[in-house]
Amino acid sequence: MANGQVQIFDTTLRDGEQVPGCKLDTHNKLIIAQRLDELGVDVLEAGFPISSPGDFESVVKITRLIKNARVCGLTRAVKKDIEVAAEALKDAKKPRIHTGIGTSDPHIKYKFNSNRDKIIERAVAAVSYAKSFVEDVEFYAEDAGRTDNVYLARICEAVIKSGATVLNIPDTTGYCLPDEYGAKVKYLKENVTGIDKATLSCHCHNDLGLATANSIAGVLNGARQIECTINGIGERAGNTSLEEVVMIMRQHPDLNLDTNINSKLLYSTSQLVSESMGMPVQPNKAVVGANAFAHSSGIHQDGVIKKRETYEIMDPHDVGVTESAIVLTARSGRAALAYRAKNIGFELDKLQLDKVYKQFLKVADQQKEVNDEDIPKIIEACGL
Ligand code: KIV
Ligand code: ZN
Repeated sequence: MANGQVQIFDTTLRDGEQVPGCKLDTHNKLIIAQRLDELGVDVLEAGFPISSPGDFESVVKITRLIKNARVCGLTRAVKKDIEVAAEALKDAKKPRIHTGIGTSDPHIKYKFNSNRDKIIERAVAAVSYAKSFVEDVEFYAEDAGRTDNVYLARICEAVIKSGATVLNIPDTTGYCLPDEYGAKVKYLKENVTGIDKATLSCHCHNDLGLATANSIAGVLNGARQIECTINGIGERAGNTSLEEVVMIMRQHPDLNLDTNINSKLLYSTSQLVSESMGMPVQPNKAVVGANAFAHSSGIHQDGVIKKRETYEIMDPHDVGVTESAIVLTARSGRAALAYRAKNIGFELDKLQLDKVYKQFLKVADQQKEVNDEDIPKIIEACGL
């Protein structure tokens, strides 16, 4: 498994915190950082220290709190950014500076009014400078998803020579298809001299709903780090969701990929981040959504009551959810009603169930959901 060990780089407190209107104060950031450390993330991106005094202070405090994870600070390929990040990270047990620059033609032309050669020079200078402060330097090639692969390989090779330990290949705009992103990683693995000295990292955005699929395509093609956030929060449509990639690797042992994450803490961590940011988790969110283990149609409920695995590919306990839910709606069948009635102490025989079910359907057609409190009233209305 050693070779299949995928590092989880959590950026909830940096890219995740870029969600409009969801800013966290230092106190909340420290609570989340502590929880991410317990969860087992390998790298914790604590912030962008030059961006504001508040972010600088949070990064400093996080470095003093965190016991296990590497703590990382983001910079642009700008000397002052790197100096400020190095200062913020100076108490970290395992510091990492994450520096980089846009490498796609639109970024080079419109953001920097520059050319490909000059961008390589800036990337090399930034990595070398960061390396004068810390041993562990990650380079990001912003908009790598839309960067020409031959040029991307050149810049990767140049920054490895300058000491980059990790190469982040962001699909910044969430544009790539999984095959395309996987092929990009494969191309770098096969064409960059010195690639074995560095770890390739996937950093995918979700503009087309492909962030998770692209990250998995990346690791299947040789990347060994995934950058992700709790609940998939982040800029625009968000980042790769941590809980999704972790559980995909865990539920597919045939892939021979795994992480250090304690999956039993996933649900509570999702709730913590959602509550701290005031950002509800969509009910149908994979792994941690309120409906991820809820069954409402009669056919599914009958199956799950007979054997959970008929309609669940994960054990809810494995992600910290106490149990699967059998939700009573007008689509539910007799088996679900009998099951829920039994759970609150009403054992119904076949004839009784037929009678109660008819009354149940009348109530269910009027309500979105039938709750435990409704069941005794339904039974009573049947004269039982
Ligand atoms: O999406 C992106 O390209 C980023 C980089 C700053 C790493 O977040
Ligand atoms: Zn990003």
